[in-house]
Amino acid sequence: MAFDLDMIKKVYDRFSSRIDAARQATGKPLTLTEKILYSHLTEGDAKAAYHRGVDYVDFAPDRVAMQDATAQMALLQFMQAGRPQVAVPSTVHCDHLIQAKIGAVEDLNTAKDINSEVYDFLASVSDKYGLGFWKPGAGIIHQVVLENYAFPGGMMIGTDSHTPNAGGLGMIAIGVGGADACDVMAGLPWELKFPKLIGVHLTGKLSGWASAKDVILKVAGILTVKGGTGAIVEYFGEGARSLSATGKGTICNMGAEIGATTSIFGYDEKMAAYLRGTQREDIAALADGVAAHLTGDEEVYASPEQYFDQVIEINLSELEPHVNGPFTPDLAWPISKFATAVRENNWPTALEVGLIGSCTNSSYEDITRAASIAKQATDKGLKTKAEYTVTPGSELVRYTVERDGYLNTFEAIGGVVLANACGPCIGQWSRHTDDPTRKNSIITSFNRNFAKRQDGNPNTHAFVASPEIVTAFAIAGDLTFNPLTDTLTNEAGEQVMLDEPLGIELPVKGFAVEDAGYQAPAEDGSHVEVLVSPTSSRLQLLDPFAAWEGTDIKCLRLLIKAKGKCTTDHISMAGPWLKFRGHLDNISNNMLIGAINYFNNTADSVKNELTGEYGPVPATQRDYKANGIGTIVVGDENYGEGSSREHAAMEPRHLGVRAILVKSFARIHETNLKKQGMLGITFDNVADYDKVQEDDKIDIVGLTEFAPGKQLTVVLHHADGTEDSFPVNHTYNAQQIEWFKAGGALNIIRRQQGA
Ligand code: F3S
Repeated sequence: MAFDLDMIKKVYDRFSSRIDAARQATGKPLTLTEKILYSHLTEGDAKAAYHRGVDYVDFAPDRVAMQDATAQMALLQFMQAGRPQVAVPSTVHCDHLIQAKIGAVEDLNTAKDINSEVYDFLASVSDKYGLGFWKPGAGIIHQVVLENYAFPGGMMIGTDSHTPNAGGLGMIAIGVGGADACDVMAGLPWELKFPKLIGVHLTGKLSGWASAKDVILKVAGILTVKGGTGAIVEYFGEGARSLSATGKGTICNMGAEIGATTSIFGYDEKMAAYLRGTQREDIAALADGVAAHLTGDEEVYASPEQYFDQVIEINLSELEPHVNGPFTPDLAWPISKFATAVRENNWPTALEVGLIGSCTNSSYEDITRAASIAKQATDKGLKTKAEYTVTPGSELVRYTVERDGYLNTFEAIGGVVLANACGPCIGQWSRHTDDPTRKNSIITSFNRNFAKRQDGNPNTHAFVASPEIVTAFAIAGDLTFNPLTDTLTNEAGEQVMLDEPLGIELPVKGFAVEDAGYQAPAEDGSHVEVLVSPTSSRLQLLDPFAAWEGTDIKCLRLLIKAKGKCTTDHISMAGPWLKFRGHLDNISNNMLIGAINYFNNTADSVKNELTGEYGPVPATQRDYKANGIGTIVVGDENYGEGSSREHAAMEPRHLGVRAILVKSFARIHETNLKKQGMLGITFDNVADYDKVQEDDKIDIVGLTEFAPGKQLTVVLHHADGTEDSFPVNHTYNAQQIEWFKAGGALNIIRRQQGA
């Protein structure tokens, strides 16, 4: 941590001059977001104002964090970059590969057993290259980062889309692909399109059942899953200052659900209290010393419309608890309207499982609020009707809430405490069900609820709410129950109501832990050996992708024209596939198997033009590759939304797809495609999507003059001999065009390192 303190001092030391330079360059007062971004420019003091949503800017983040599923590929890539040590403080967190089945202890032991090869690889590669390693069971990346590494005014990247969780402590924290993490660990600048700014003005104060989770559930309803794309969301106002640091973390975490680049709150007394509560008094003291730089300028918040691209007002005093879903996190229902929505839409009213915790909602405050509801079930003679699980976010939280008796409270109502890991949130859930074909409902305090996300079952209707609302629903077992107004019948046949939840922000006796699960790296890692077996099915050393051939790309076959939502889960499904995250060829067998083929409305069934037969997408693509035929994937709006996994970009690249042509891209995925040397292009006129036919042969023209802002042309040669031709757009800058030409960014890094 001493190392961190030195790094934080350096960041704070340069604040004054850099922020002054930024004020001069922009000629205006600054938002907090701008202060942090301009203080982290690779070039030093700002020379000119950047255009939001237009200019690509090089940044120097202070820190990198990786979870075990994404770290494998990031570190396999880093190993190829030829450096002896990581250039900035970096950590690995083993949280994604633990399957929830029986309970914490058994599930953790099973995970250690079946993932030993991967854990050993990650532990040894961390040891060698100077990364902190958080063992399986230590906790979920974002909670561990909030407890140990996040600091006000800092900037970090993380190989997980919920990295913005650290915004709860005033850090610009952005979810990226492993290739970006590799760049920063290799000491190279990290590039980001200068974001637009959305201001959320919070007034009033939460009360009763309403919680921080409801703020973001409401914001998701307002902005939708696309509304934050390319933007950083900055929360401010007296309402913001009234929220706990962990509550702020929940809000920032779920900013990923509106597509936001990240979200942030300004430094305040709640953050200082959390820093002190997690043994970081020294960081709080440093932050107090530069407090004026850790919030937006007064003029900005006095007339936010002038300085933000969009402003949203929310009065916390009037905020109702929300339940969002099913199938998308932006379908927002105030609790007073939810029961009617359930009935009108014929969603299954019987609730089968309630799940609390996860990286989104497992703070001490969350656990105590949920436990205050669970306790009432026992006290008032109520039996829990649905199954109920609790996922602590870290060993620090788990140990502390166990010490304080809260785990007993959950167990008393039949709650099953799962390992400190992602588990059901990422589909690592061996769910017990008697009939998987039955339409069924679950409710979670997690962040994401796309079809199949939690249990792989398309019949599961997943809803998202706060932990206390989830707990109340689990007790009622009925989605038409409104805990604010409805009674329940207890075992004595009496009508009882649940009282409002009560929470405790920080443990009165302080946090405690016996073994947090941390392994520090070797002082000198040069002697440490990293072993990857050539016969491993889980890990595979990488070969560089081939460079561009220097000509237009002609005669591509259409692999799939994806219809509707095509998230990174559709492109590279999680769940059982997670175990192949470090093995590119094996994981490529899940490529696009969740995408719906426009021509037959079916998933994982595309026409193979070589045989005329319909078959699975990966097998069809492998056939084209074996025959030396390039292909193209066509997609709809916001293609690649969801997670940051670069596998969704690497798999098509590995299997020989040459271009992805869509109506629009989600930001992280578009960047990942560029890093891998893939051509990602968008229809200039979205109606041209309709012109693409199943049997087309497709040319991409203009690549020999590939330049920033210059359109390319797509030519469709239809089977009946006719042709269509139309312009397509791209967002490649000069450097990214070099990546494309070299066959990927890593090929350029290696060259620069002389490896
Ligand atoms: Fe893990 Fe789910 Fe969070 S997968 S990192 S708990 S969003």
